[in-house]
Amino acid sequence: FSVPEVQNEPMHAYAPGSPERTALQAAIAQMQRDLPFEVPCVINGKEVRKGMLCSQPMPHDHAKNLCTYYEADSATVAQAIDGALDAKAEWEAMPWNDRAAIFLKAADLVSGKYRYKLMAATILGQGKNAWQAEIDAAAELADFLRFGVKFVQTLYSQQPTKNSAGAWNRVEYRALEGFVLAISPFNFTAIGGNLNATPALVGNVVVWKPSPMATYSSYIVHQIFLEAGVPPSVIQFVPGAPEIVAQQCIAHPLFAALHFTGSTFVFKQLWKDIASNVDVYKSYPKIVGETGGKNFHVVHESAEIRNAVIQTIRGAFEYQGQKCSALSRLYVSSSVWSAGFKEMFLAEIAKIKVGGPDDWTNYMGPVIGRPSFDKIMSYIEKAKQAGGEVLTGGTGDDSKGYFVQPTVILTKDPNSVTMVEEIFGPVITVFVYEDSEYEQTLKLIDSTSQYALTGAIFASSRAALIKATNALRNAAGNVYYNEKCTGAVVGQQPFGGGRASGTNDKAGSISIFYRFVSPRSIKENF
Ligand code: ALA
Repeated sequence: FSVPEVQNEPMHAYAPGSPERTALQAAIAQMQRDLPFEVPCVINGKEVRKGMLCSQPMPHDHAKNLCTYYEADSATVAQAIDGALDAKAEWEAMPWNDRAAIFLKAADLVSGKYRYKLMAATILGQGKNAWQAEIDAAAELADFLRFGVKFVQTLYSQQPTKNSAGAWNRVEYRALEGFVLAISPFNFTAIGGNLNATPALVGNVVVWKPSPMATYSSYIVHQIFLEAGVPPSVIQFVPGAPEIVAQQCIAHPLFAALHFTGSTFVFKQLWKDIASNVDVYKSYPKIVGETGGKNFHVVHESAEIRNAVIQTIRGAFEYQGQKCSALSRLYVSSSVWSAGFKEMFLAEIAKIKVGGPDDWTNYMGPVIGRPSFDKIMSYIEKAKQAGGEVLTGGTGDDSKGYFVQPTVILTKDPNSVTMVEEIFGPVITVFVYEDSEYEQTLKLIDSTSQYALTGAIFASSRAALIKATNALRNAAGNVYYNEKCTGAVVGQQPFGGGRASGTNDKAGSISIFYRFVSPRSIKENF
C-alpha cells in the first residue's frame, strides 16, 4: 500500500466578509466568552488535576488568563514515563498503515474541524494575528503531519539494494528503546505537534512538556491527537516546571531522546544534564534541538530596492520578530541605502499598526510576556548607550498588553550588542557597508555569526549571490535569494541551522526521522 499523495494545506486569505473570517471571528469571540479554561495534565488519557496551579495570561491583555493549568508534580511525571513505556510495545508493533492513518486523520482534524479553535487559542494565547496563526496552527501543523507520514513511508522503503545468492538483506527501522522527551516552545503551535508526531510516527512513545506560554493551544493539539486515535499513553501531556519534568525524564535509564525547540541556553543546560547522566542510560540518547538565531539579510548594490525593503520588513516584524527564523540584522550597501532604501523602509514601517486581535488591521501584536518585553526594551537601551541611533520605534507600552513598536537601530559598529546577540523581538539593527567592501562584509557576517539559522541575500547579480553563498557557507542552515529569511514550508525548505542554532536535523524533511529510529540489519539465508 502507499500513503496518499500530499500537498501543502492551502491557506485562507481571511478577506473582510469572507466565510473564513466570519468563522474565525466567531471562534475567537466564543473563546473570549468562555475563558479562562482549566487545563489538566493528561496521563494515560486521564486528566490529572493536582500539582501547582499556574496561569497563561493573554499577551495582549495580561490581566486576563486564557487558561490555568496544573504543573505536574514528581509522581505525575513518574506516572507519565511508566505509562508511556507500558504502551510502547503495542504502539511499535502496530502496522505502519494504522499509525499513518491516525496522523493523517489528525491532520484533517487540524485543517478542518478544529482549525478555527486552534487558531483562536494561538491568537489569544501566543499573540499572533489571523494570518500568522493560519501559517502556523492550520497550515504548518497539518503539513508536518501529512508530509511526516510520506517521509516515514520513504524511510521504511530505503532498503539494501544488493543481495548475494541465496540470501535476502533487509533493514528494519525500529523505534528507540525507551521514551522520547519533547519540549516545545511558545512561538509555533505547529512545532509542539511536530516535536511529538515525528518520534511517534516511527513508533516511539513521548512525554511532552509544552511551553507554559502555549499551554492552551498545546492542550488542544493533544486532544486532537487523542481524537484521531493516538493511543492514550503514547503521547503524555505534562505541563510543568523544567526542574521537575525535564530533570526527571533525563535521569531515567530509558530516556532515549530529547526533541527540543527553545533557547540555546536551556538546550545547552539540558545537554550537560544528559552528559552527567550518561552512566545511567541503557542506550546513548539522541539529542535533537533547534535553538536560537541571529538571522541576517544582505542587500547588495544590485538588489531590487522595493523587494528588499518589503521582505526586510516582513522578516523582521511579522509575529513581532519572535520566529526563530526572524530577521534581526541587516547589512545594506551604502548606495542602495541612500538611493531610496532608507526612505522607503522608514515610510513603510510608519504604516505598521500594533495592537491586539480585536482590530484586524494590526500588522503586529504583543510580544509574549513580561520577561520578553523587559528584555527587548533593555536591548534597545543598550544599543542606544553603545552609540546606536534609533531611526524609528524604540518605545513600548506594557500597561494592558506587551506591545513594542517596530524598531530600527542604525549602528556603525558591526560587533555592537544588538548586532550579535539574540533579542527575539521586533528590533532590527542596520549596518551600512561601502559597496567596495562587499567581500569584507561577508567575512564580517560569518565571523559574527555565533548562530547559524537563516539568512537572505538580495542581489540581481549572480556573482554577488555566489560570493555570499560561499562566504556564508556555515552561517545559516536556510538561505533565501531575494526573499525574506522566514517562512520555510514543510516539504519545500527543510528547516534548521548549525552552530548555536541547533543540531540541524531539518524539521519538515525526511532527515529528522533518521534521528528517532534505530535501524536493524537482518540477513536471511535461504
Ligand atoms: N518554519 C518557520 C520559519 O521558517 C520557523 O519561519
